[in-house]
Amino acid sequence: MAIKSLLSISGLAATLSVSYAAAAPQLALCPNLRLVSNAACCKFFDLRDDLQNNLFGNTCGERVREALRLTFHDSIAFSKTLGGGGADGSIITFAETELQFAANAGNGGVEEFVATLTPFGPKHNVTPGDLISFAGILGISNCPGTPRVQFFTGRPNPVAPAPDGLVNQPTDDADTIIARFADAGFSPDELVSLLASHSIAGADTFVGAGGGDAFDSTAHVFDSQFFIETRLHNPVPGEGRLPSDASLARDSRTACTWQSFVNNENSMRSAFAAALTKMMLLGQDQSQLVDCTEVIPQSPSHNPAPFFPGNATINDVDAACTQTPFPTLPQNPAVTSVATINEF
Ligand code: HEM
Repeated sequence: MAIKSLLSISGLAATLSVSYAAAAPQLALCPNLRLVSNAACCKFFDLRDDLQNNLFGNTCGERVREALRLTFHDSIAFSKTLGGGGADGSIITFAETELQFAANAGNGGVEEFVATLTPFGPKHNVTPGDLISFAGILGISNCPGTPRVQFFTGRPNPVAPAPDGLVNQPTDDADTIIARFADAGFSPDELVSLLASHSIAGADTFVGAGGGDAFDSTAHVFDSQFFIETRLHNPVPGEGRLPSDASLARDSRTACTWQSFVNNENSMRSAFAAALTKMMLLGQDQSQLVDCTEVIPQSPSHNPAPFFPGNATINDVDAACTQTPFPTLPQNPAVTSVATINEF
């Protein structure tokens, strides 16, 4: 009997120690004495401080917008039929080739930012794919309202340039864009979710005379104004509107999801985070990557208060979603024009 009890107690102890061992986090100590979940995350603390102080200036400004846009131009270059390594950093390693592509070249392109970002990789021993992903995800943490997007490290060096023609142009119609995203593995809903990025974006060259035309009246805040203002008959004076955004806001395959974000910023945030995480894993084997999201700060908070700008009303909204009416919103009479975003 005594032996039986002893056996059952030792069995319980073994169970406890097994389950404790399974739950115990495996921590690593970095050279700078930070405790991290995995030693592979250590170098990203130094890279984070370097980028924040010497590139982003700890603000939701031009460099952040460029970093976010670069995640798109690198990673969407992934096709089930045409190839391309996705989020592999090939736009840095094979810059001589990829920066010639129409979508990446010229003043409205990403050349200048690729040149600016590139040296941070070798300096911190980070591969180009990890660098682009980290810069984009870290950068947007400076913008109030952004979700904390998962960051994974371990992308190998890219092996080849992406083929041309995989990055959509703002003159592409909805059919072309939806088909391109489907080829990269994204549904129309995920495409709309990714375009929440244009909530903190603008155009230097494509629309407007002066450049730096914001895509909504709150370009330094990640909110749903982009989804509201793109559906108005006309942009707010000073605002830029891409033809591609205008089409997708009204297309039957995307308009209802577009509209669903108008007064549901939480859903916009979580859908954007999931879609951006997926985009950052295109062409990668997630099982070979290490989650270092702990390096990414929480963004400043933002209280959603969606509005119609100026004296706009529901009568100024283009009908597009037949399933649900456009939400009723208060007006913000102070918003009668939008300033350029170039300097900030
Ligand atoms: C249909 C797909 C898309 C098209 C056609 C498109 C097109 C454009 C264009 C033409 C600009 C203005 C460039 C300039 O003149 O400076 C722009 C800006 C921007 N885009 Fe997109 N975009 C698309 C999707 C995305 C996605 C998926 C993201 C990120 C996840 C993104 C992030 C941005 C950002 C952050 C900017 C602002 C860049 C800056 O201010 O320097 N875009 N986009």
